[in-house]
Amino acid sequence: MKTRTIGTATVSAIGLGAMPMSIEGRPDEARSIRTIHAALDAGVTLIDTADAYHLHAGETGHNERLIAKALASYPGDTSNVLVATKGGHIRPGDGSWIVDGSPKHLREAADASLKALGVDAIGLYQFHRPDPKVPYEESVGTLKELLDAGKIRMAGISNATVEQIDIARRILGEGNLASVQNQFSPAFRSSEPELRHAAAHGIAFLPWSPLGGIGRAGELGTRHAAFQEVASAHGVSPQRVTLAWMLALAPQVIPIPGASRPESITDSAQAADLALTDEEVARLSAA
Ligand SMILES: NC(=O)c1ccc[n+]([C@@H]2O[C@H](COP(=O)([O-])OP(=O)(O)OC[C@H]3O[C@@H](n4cnc5c(N)ncnc54)[C@H](OP(=O)(O)O)[C@@H]3O)[C@@H](O)[C@H]2O)c1
Repeated sequence: MKTRTIGTATVSAIGLGAMPMSIEGRPDEARSIRTIHAALDAGVTLIDTADAYHLHAGETGHNERLIAKALASYPGDTSNVLVATKGGHIRPGDGSWIVDGSPKHLREAADASLKALGVDAIGLYQFHRPDPKVPYEESVGTLKELLDAGKIRMAGISNATVEQIDIARRILGEGNLASVQNQFSPAFRSSEPELRHAAAHGIAFLPWSPLGGIGRAGELGTRHAAFQEVASAHGVSPQRVTLAWMLALAPQVIPIPGASRPESITDSAQAADLALTDEEVARLSAA
């Protein structure tokens, strides 16, 4: 698997988004473990999660515990796997997602994630979503505090504007903002300014819902004809073409396609080896 860089870490060019294995529609645990193991078999060394990836009240950290269990039961070496988690969202169990970016919540959430993941320090901790009730500087300032305390090795932000990226760069200190994770897919391109801004500053950009999201990813080829046509020309899936197109946009882009089946991540991981021509990339960018 080709690699890319997040801060000080080298990771696979394609990561695994673990959310579908813990929220609405999630599979049983055995299938989830098989899916994570299939990702590792394919050379994936970046797994994206969050404390809020769960379904019912009282099971915060479900996805983090699942990943910890899958890593512990994997027969191969997992020492080079970067687990990227997030704090700043709360799920009360009624289907809603509430934001809490207060320093108190983020400190408690990071401690709980350390426990759920069973680690001494979190590899990459991302502030999940800006909280309109809390100044952005305060939320990101808490990430700086966690970095300084050694509880997290790297800091990232998610659902951020260009302005918030710059605030985070300033508060964390030059070089300490490792990643930006925003929505980006063939159907949702409005994060391209953030993608370009992150890339210009050497910050990893992790597109979330890169295939259009759970429930829509399967129809990508019918919704986006150009992606299907390029896929047919290469004899591969339109999902794989989408991820290869993103990789071609900038060396800092590291897509994190979700999966709840081994077949999905096995197919997606091969995007790292799919070379598109400049004409194909330009055509998909314009489509
Ligand atoms: N920061 C944020 O606010 C935020 C928000 C949303 C998501 N995320 C992160 O981003 C990750 C990815 O987003 P997402 O899971 O919402 O959506 P997505 O990656 O666009 O789509 C996920 C779905 O794609 C299907 N899929 C994956 N690879 C495929 C392939 N090669 N061929 C056909 N189908 C394929 C999977 O199907 P199966 O389930 O059948 O395997 C899965 O359900 C999440 O898992 C999460 O880690 C972050």
